[in-house]
Amino acid sequence: KNVAKGTAHGKIILIGEHAVVYNMPAIALPFTTATITVEVSPYQGKSYLESACYCGSLDQAPGDLAGLQACLTAVCADLDQSSDHLYIKVDSMIPAERGMGSSAAVATALVKALFHYFQVDLSSEALSAYVEIAEKITHGKPSGLDATVVNSIAPVYFKRNQLPKAIPLNVDGYLIAADTGIKGHTKEAVGDVAKLVETAKVQTMDIVHHLGQLTHQAKKAIMTNNLPGLGEILNQSHQLLKDLTVSNPKLDQLVQAAQDAGACGAKLTGGGRGGCMIALAQSNQDASNIAQKLEKAGAIETWIHPLGEANHD
Ligand code: PMV
Repeated sequence: KNVAKGTAHGKIILIGEHAVVYNMPAIALPFTTATITVEVSPYQGKSYLESACYCGSLDQAPGDLAGLQACLTAVCADLDQSSDHLYIKVDSMIPAERGMGSSAAVATALVKALFHYFQVDLSSEALSAYVEIAEKITHGKPSGLDATVVNSIAPVYFKRNQLPKAIPLNVDGYLIAADTGIKGHTKEAVGDVAKLVETAKVQTMDIVHHLGQLTHQAKKAIMTNNLPGLGEILNQSHQLLKDLTVSNPKLDQLVQAAQDAGACGAKLTGGGRGGCMIALAQSNQDASNIAQKLEKAGAIETWIHPLGEANHD
């Protein structure tokens, strides 16, 4: 047997995080600028994992890789293959714990690589089911959004308990993503919003509904190539997320830096209290300028991602 490869990409929540927990819609984008590749090849002895966070025997891997191990065990059991004698190499450009879907992406790439390795066809339903096994262990109660988007080429319009819908991305422009260097604290932020809903129900649900309306407007802006409109919607959404207490000083500082550098709009993305922020720019040159300013303002990494047609080659 030779080397078999599987790939996946990251995801970025464009708008609707947190409100989605209260049944409002959200839009997530496939972040094809940050990819992950898993290679599976033969190995003598217990399966070995080579990755940036751990190199060693898979059965002695740290707890945060338990989801991946479970996924491997399930695939091998279903295919009647041993889960030993595999060399698994993970090469990731997606930072972990930044709300970019790295855990769903690595599981997706692993499942694809294993099916190639064992030369069995993989249906998208089976792929989702295996990734869900990993995500349940890694995240507890995954919404399934990450698993869908890391393997999709179209933006996904998503509502709780409904099948995600692919929407066309007709907007021309560039998305800049920047990493605060701080781990995202999604669980804590979601818990704090739940407390706000208890203690200040009317005001909090007003914000949640407003965020839902903004997601509707964002969908229209995306489908009518209205980048400035979309930018304004992102700015408003950052303010509302701040009102929900899910931002933090570093995110606010980067959002401000992007706006000062001429971004069409900027906001935090994902669970908040850390993780990443995003900004929009009309041209590649504007995007580079904004990315530079974000790095000056303390971002540890930035990405420039073409939207619309530029992203469909
Ligand atoms: O931080 P991420 O990318 O896992 O996104 C969290 C999104 C929330 O809406 C805050 C929570 C959720 O479960 O939908």
